[in-house]
Amino acid sequence: MKFFIDTANLADIREAQDMGILDGVTTNPSLMAKEGITGKDNVMRHYKQICEIVQSDVSAEVISVKYDEMIKEGEELADIDENIVVKVPMSGDSIKAIKYFSEKGIRTNCTLIFSAGQALLAAKAGATYVSPFVGRLDDISTDGMALIEQIVTIFTNYGYSTEVLAASVRHPMHVIQCAEIGADIMTAPLSVMKQLLNHPLTDSGLAKFLADHEKANLPVK
Ligand code: E4P
Repeated sequence: MKFFIDTANLADIREAQDMGILDGVTTNPSLMAKEGITGKDNVMRHYKQICEIVQSDVSAEVISVKYDEMIKEGEELADIDENIVVKVPMSGDSIKAIKYFSEKGIRTNCTLIFSAGQALLAAKAGATYVSPFVGRLDDISTDGMALIEQIVTIFTNYGYSTEVLAASVRHPMHVIQCAEIGADIMTAPLSVMKQLLNHPLTDSGLAKFLADHEKANLPVK
């Protein structure tokens, strides 16, 4: 399973990249706003900076919601770097735009997916990725992971090349469940990736190893 980091924070992206386990980056307008990135030029420059750090997929989301405007904005984003994936929110206009982009060889990530039907439409239009939001479904007492499973089954049944990018991943168990189900990618904040490192038995085991080593290597008096 590929690991994407879900942030627009350059320090977090660098840290995940330095860990050597990063396969890409996803951003969204909320994440860009959180970093204080405003205005078209700054937004474009910020995506360029992210691309310089990771040299792998970077999802850049359009703000436009109308087909013509989405095409223009998506093409401008795609021109920033060959690793830019144009992220579009699920809608009728976006489905048409995904079809257009896929015919032009521009890769797309269809975001805000909350049903298998939406994922199927995006795959039929030629989306590179669909992003079903696990955590936001869990937030409304709906099983987000069941949606990942449903989409993986459907895409496997018909051999769609569209990859399932599990989004809104909020904790380590989400990551493990995505891997068990066979999601192609999961995207999560750096904090979730770091939580995967932890186990109390690892900490106590290491403390004992080091203490035993120190005892055995005490200078002979
Ligand atoms: C997906 O690409 C989104 O950026 C993201 O995963 C949303 O996560 P959230 O529901 O924690 O905001």
